[in-house]
Amino acid sequence: MAVSVTAEAKPQAPVAWRHRHLIDLDVVTWPEIELIMRTTAEMKGVLARPIRKVPALMGRRVTTLFYEASTRTRVSFETAARNLSADVVSVAPATSSVTKGESLVDTIRTLEALGAEILVMRHSVSGAPYLAAEIFGGHILNGGDGWHAHPTQALLDLYTMREHLPGGDLRGRKVVIVGDVLHSRVARSNIWSLTAAGADLWLCGPATLLRGFERWAGAWSAGTIPGHGRFNVTSDVDAAIRDADVVMALRIQRERMESGLLPSLREYAARFGLNAERVSLAKPEAIVMHPGPMNEGVEIAPDVAISGRAVITEQVTNGVAVRMALLYLLAGTHVEGHTEIIR
Ligand code: NCD
Repeated sequence: MAVSVTAEAKPQAPVAWRHRHLIDLDVVTWPEIELIMRTTAEMKGVLARPIRKVPALMGRRVTTLFYEASTRTRVSFETAARNLSADVVSVAPATSSVTKGESLVDTIRTLEALGAEILVMRHSVSGAPYLAAEIFGGHILNGGDGWHAHPTQALLDLYTMREHLPGGDLRGRKVVIVGDVLHSRVARSNIWSLTAAGADLWLCGPATLLRGFERWAGAWSAGTIPGHGRFNVTSDVDAAIRDADVVMALRIQRERMESGLLPSLREYAARFGLNAERVSLAKPEAIVMHPGPMNEGVEIAPDVAISGRAVITEQVTNGVAVRMALLYLLAGTHVEGHTEIIR
């Protein structure tokens, strides 16, 4: 069982947000994650009002720049920014000067000259947001970079898990992530937050899609990464799912896949897909998650995706509140106890 030295039951002292950018969770402490969770709960309160809009970011300019396909993440960020009254500009590289050969650096300089203050970006190259952060004068919020990181997804996953677990406490809870771990920025960001939360984290998939993670898990367990509990890596899907509290399927990322990593999608579905029989190995109250978009019939059976255990649409809804919280925290000099801005 994973033991975290950072997740504590006692109330936290007020925490000030100190990050200019959010590119991954590796530099975010557990008290800061808890601050994000508390701010998200406040934002959910805003979303429950008849008028789901507050003036917190009135006059502030949020630009989204997505070089990769996205439905839920981009719309969720833009909805979140509008709910906070920000001015939102959405750049689609396919119809921008990127098609004329403009570089990422030039594009970002141009957007800054046009007034962008918070830049939400998604890029197929791992690390692209770090380059952006070097040249951009405002705040960078990572909406997913290559295989590297997808911090807002991990945070909305954590928030959704906490809503379903007694006391919102993940310590000792078995969380299983099944699928294409190798290509997954969602899994990589979830490793930081879930081990910090003290979860008993299991990564599961075909050995070809877990490459390198055994070594990472080994270093983690040896205490090389301070403040984080260990995680387990296995290709035994039944052992991974048995008695789990949370089962999360990952999409098979065909666009990032080299040939030879999987014999066939049919075989993958048969050996690793979340079907009703496999999910019944988990605890009776276990929840089923998926970051979307789903390949139904591959990593998750259609009946499981709409079953009573599935919280997949809740993940999407919580995504708006998490992103409102992050935009709010990044935009201001936030000190807890001074939240009148969202009243
Ligand atoms: C994920 C992504 O883009 O990383 N989707 C998402 O943002 N909800 C996962 C995926 O593409 O499989």
